[in-house]
Amino acid sequence: MRGPVAHGARRQDTGKESGQAETMVLGLETSCDETSAALLKGGRELLGHVILSQDVHEIWGGVVPELAARAHLAVVDDVVRETLAQAELSLDQVDVFGVTAGPGLIGALLVGVSWAKGAAFALDRPLVAVHHMEAHLFAPSLEDPGAEPPFVALLVSGGHTLLIHAEAWGHYRLLGQTRDDAAGEAYDKVAKLLDLPYPGGPHVERLSRDGDPARHRMPRPMLRGNQLPGDPDFFDVSFSGLKTAVATRVAQLQEEGTLAEERPHMAAAFQDAVVDTLVSKTLRAVEFTGCDRVLLGGGVSANRSLREEMARRLGSGGKVFVSSPRLAVDNGAMVARAAHFRFHRGDMAAPELTADSALAFPGLAFPGIEGA
Ligand code: KG4
Ligand code: ZN
Repeated sequence: MRGPVAHGARRQDTGKESGQAETMVLGLETSCDETSAALLKGGRELLGHVILSQDVHEIWGGVVPELAARAHLAVVDDVVRETLAQAELSLDQVDVFGVTAGPGLIGALLVGVSWAKGAAFALDRPLVAVHHMEAHLFAPSLEDPGAEPPFVALLVSGGHTLLIHAEAWGHYRLLGQTRDDAAGEAYDKVAKLLDLPYPGGPHVERLSRDGDPARHRMPRPMLRGNQLPGDPDFFDVSFSGLKTAVATRVAQLQEEGTLAEERPHMAAAFQDAVVDTLVSKTLRAVEFTGCDRVLLGGGVSANRSLREEMARRLGSGGKVFVSSPRLAVDNGAMVARAAHFRFHRGDMAAPELTADSALAFPGLAFPGIEGA
C-alpha cells in the first residue's frame, strides 16, 4: 500500500471489495462540531477512535462556524495522537488517509482536509475524499457485517434528510429529501423553543418520555393518505411548518401560563410527528422498491423512538440496521470505513483536493420517481 498512487485512477468498478484485509486507514472528521479520528484495519477492525464534541456552541444555542473551525484547529493534532496511542501505532504505519471533504461547514472542513493532505503528502500515502453522508451509510456495517446493500436508507442528520435506495455500495438512487429543514435541525429548533440545550435531539427525546403525544397533536407536513408514487411530495419531507406549529402552540401555552407543565407533552407531540413522518415515508420506499431491508443513519438515528417505531411498523419480515448511538452521530470511524471502500475502488483524491461545503453525493442518481 506504500508509494505514490495514480491520482484519480479508478480500479475495476465491481462495487465489491476484495483483498483488503490489512489496509490501515486513518479517518478524520471535522465537518461540523465533532473532531474525530479513527484507525480502521481491513475495513472492520477499529483499533483506535476518538470523538471530541465541541461544547463552545452550547453558549450560543447552535453551531457558530468560525468557532467550530478554530476549535478543530486547536485539537486536531491531539485527537489524532490519542487515536494512534489507542491503536499503539505510529503515523507512518497508516496506509491511507481518509477525510470528510464535504458537505459541511467550509472552515471546519478545511481543517480536516488540510491536515489529511499534509499527512498524506509528507508520508507519500494515498488520500481519499469522503462524502459525509455516504460515511453515515457505512456506520452500521462497522458493528454488523450484515449491514450491506441492498437497503433503503433513511439518513437523518443536522444538515440532511435523505431517503435513498442503495442497490450496492457506490450505487444509490435518491427517492426523497427534505424541502426545508433537516430532521435534526427541527429537533434543535424545537429544543430551543422548549428552553433545552444544544444539540437538542437527545434532550427533546429525554423530555418526551414523560409526555403524552396526543395532548397537543402536531401536523405531519407532506404526509397525506392520498399521495401516490409520482407525486412530487410522495417521498419528500418538510419540517419547517411543524416547527412553526410547535412555536405557535408554545407561545399560546406561555400566555396561558401552563408551559412549564406542558413541555414534556409538547416534546412528545413533536417527536411523534417527526417519527411518524419519517417512518411512513421510509415504508413507502420499502413498498416502492420491494426492498424490506432498512438502514438508519445520521445523528437522529440515535433516537430510540425512531428505531423502535421503524422496527415495529416494518414488521418481523423486514430488517432494520442501525448503529449504536456513538457511531450514529458524527465520528471518524464511519469516515475511515467509507474511505476504505473508496480506496479499494481506486477513488483517490487529487493533490489539489479542497473542501467543498456542497459536495455532491458520489454515485447518487436522481432518477425522478418514474425511473426510481
Ligand atoms: O449526524 P450528526 O451527528 O451531525 C450532522 O451531520 O449534522 O447529527 C446531528 C443531529 C443534531 O441535530 C442532533 O440534535 C440530532 O442529530 N440528534 C438527535 C439525537 N441525537 C442526536 N435527534 C433526535 N434524537 C436523538 N437521540
Ligand atoms: Zn453527520
